[in-house]
Amino acid sequence: MQTLQVDVGHTRYPITIGSGLLSNRELLESQVAADDCLIVTNTTVAHLYLPNLRASLAKRRVAECILPDGEQHKTLQTAGWVFDALVANKLNRDATVLALGGGVIGDIAGFASACYQRGIGYVQVPTTLLAQVDSSVGGKTGVNHPAGKNLIGAFYQPLAVICDTDTLATLPDRVLRAGLAEVIKYGCVWDPLLFDWLDRNMAKLLARDADALTYAIARSCEIKATVVAQDEREHNLRAILNFGHTFGHAIEAATAYDTYLHGEAVALGMLIAADLSHRLGLTKAPVKERLRDILRQAGLPTTPPRIGAERALELMRMDKKVLAGALRLVLLEKIGRVIVTSEYPQTTLDATLTEYFS
Ligand code: NAD
Ligand code: GLY
Repeated sequence: MQTLQVDVGHTRYPITIGSGLLSNRELLESQVAADDCLIVTNTTVAHLYLPNLRASLAKRRVAECILPDGEQHKTLQTAGWVFDALVANKLNRDATVLALGGGVIGDIAGFASACYQRGIGYVQVPTTLLAQVDSSVGGKTGVNHPAGKNLIGAFYQPLAVICDTDTLATLPDRVLRAGLAEVIKYGCVWDPLLFDWLDRNMAKLLARDADALTYAIARSCEIKATVVAQDEREHNLRAILNFGHTFGHAIEAATAYDTYLHGEAVALGMLIAADLSHRLGLTKAPVKERLRDILRQAGLPTTPPRIGAERALELMRMDKKVLAGALRLVLLEKIGRVIVTSEYPQTTLDATLTEYFS
């Protein structure tokens, strides 16, 4: 069992990573102080892990809220169902919400916790690789709007993050691969050694080697904790974690959030961002090819859907990274280094969007 700390100044919390954590009563007792809890999960994960978590919280009064599964359900409506469950169970500010599931559940449950009675505590219990390496850490919570991804949300840090690596055993291959996209992202934006390590260890990761997965999770969480500690609210540095996301979010929104997993859309977005960086003379062709190669090794998609260049741009302009009318993009200089800029010729962006989306 490994423990890392996230320290954002006004609050700090542990990330615990290891095997068998969902059945570790001592750990859960120590990290869930409240007498009353609401576990928020979905129909798939409830079937797999809810009994385990409930058993470990046997000394608490535990209510549950089971949402439908899927990104298309990350909406104000399902967040409303979490509020309904909190009200129906007469839970107050001293209660704790547990988000048991992937990034979708973590984002909805975190958002509902941020809003209910102006904020109650929540604990992230991520069960996908993507959620363990990224979404459960750092306090971004929210839901989608038909006009754009994650348009409604709050920065609201959890009380703790508990990553039970055993839960990854039941992930469908496609979902595991989608999580690898975010690990590859950390290599691109921060850590060239992690990128090299991924290159050498991709087969082990895909075979779910426990040591390899634990290393990837711990290193990713370390990087995320370091970035978030410096810039919790994404005024500057944190924007680097959105590499590939502006293009990816447009792909997700244009396909009604039901065609691509978030990590798959990010993989496509990173490729497009790398290509744009190359067109702008910021990066060299072999860097772009290395990225394409590692995404292929991870079994991630490399051909974007033809959503139309104009539609893509319209959706990208709804992105939260638009400031004073200018669309900021995260561009790749080399593996391990990106820049965030709105200084690029619109014609180059248009040509890239036409190439990939039209
Ligand atoms: P997801 O939550 O939809 O999970 C993917 C699928 O795996 C779902 O069908 C889910 O039911 C299933 N599942 C979950 N755990 C399982 C398990 N252990 N065994 C078997 N099946 C399991 O998707 P995701 O990839 O985890 O998360 C994507 C979401 O995370 C997106 O909405 C994205 O916007 C969000 N996100 C948020 C942040 C953040 O900082 N808040 C960062 C990255 C991504
Ligand atoms: N996933 C990007 C961030 O948390 O900032």
